[in-house]
Amino acid sequence: MQSSFKLKMEQAVEDKKSNIVLALDLPMMEPKKLLSEANRILEEVNSSICAIKLNRHLVLPLGLSGDLRNLVRSALDKGLVAIMDCKINDIGNTNRVIAEYYFKAGFEAVTANPFVGWEDGLEPVFKVAKLMNRGVILLVYMSHKAAWEGYGQKTITEKGKTPVTQYSVFAQKALEWTADGAVVGATYPEKIKEISSYLKGTVPIYSPGIGAQGGTIELAIKNGADYLIIGRAITMAKNSKKVAKNICQIAKKSFDCMHKRM
Ligand code: XMP
Repeated sequence: MQSSFKLKMEQAVEDKKSNIVLALDLPMMEPKKLLSEANRILEEVNSSICAIKLNRHLVLPLGLSGDLRNLVRSALDKGLVAIMDCKINDIGNTNRVIAEYYFKAGFEAVTANPFVGWEDGLEPVFKVAKLMNRGVILLVYMSHKAAWEGYGQKTITEKGKTPVTQYSVFAQKALEWTADGAVVGATYPEKIKEISSYLKGTVPIYSPGIGAQGGTIELAIKNGADYLIIGRAITMAKNSKKVAKNICQIAKKSFDCMHKRM
């Protein structure tokens, strides 16, 4: 059965005709200005995106205050999904509390790092997400240059003697734990292809790293990305509205070429 978060994302894509998740990241500035900039960008680009993804860029200066909740609420009211990219990465008790705070602030999914494992690691996060009807998106292969040092290393699992890649183990965990998404960097299209062959369409792929980090929309989609996470290419653009619209159209074309529905 499809999780409710996965269904929410599919519905948002259908309604907005976009698979773009806006990483609403801004450089350091005074909190009042930050909030007005974030609201301005959201207002300008909301018709070209299906979701927003917040990170510490906004949550550190604004906290989980009324202002931030209102921003999340405003995104939800526009028919968007709200994701918190907090990369949960601690012991179970701490992880659960982190997830609960974000879910209570209105976020519909959190990102988490499978390196901490299941028991007393991410199990409490998945449990609370299920209880509150929210999603958990796992990091499987990150988008930055040094991703190979962790996610790309070879490891021996309890199941065999032959070393396998860490990311293939994480893709397997995404299936076993019924994750709502797997993050694979658009900067590594060949990894998207390989990981999507493990996930077999059961766990959607979220792909960051387009534009500022060098990845391309076409290659990410061609190799199996379902959602594109895009930040600075849109938030730092002179005309965010125009750029977001253009990105959305390119993504749509690439989806059409793959005979995928948007
Ligand atoms: P840019 O500006 O590079 O922003 O388009 C990308 C956004 O996505 C985050 N990011 C990641 N998040 N796994 C994640 O969960 C990743 O591999 C990854 N790479 C980038 C980044 O922090 C920013 O918010």
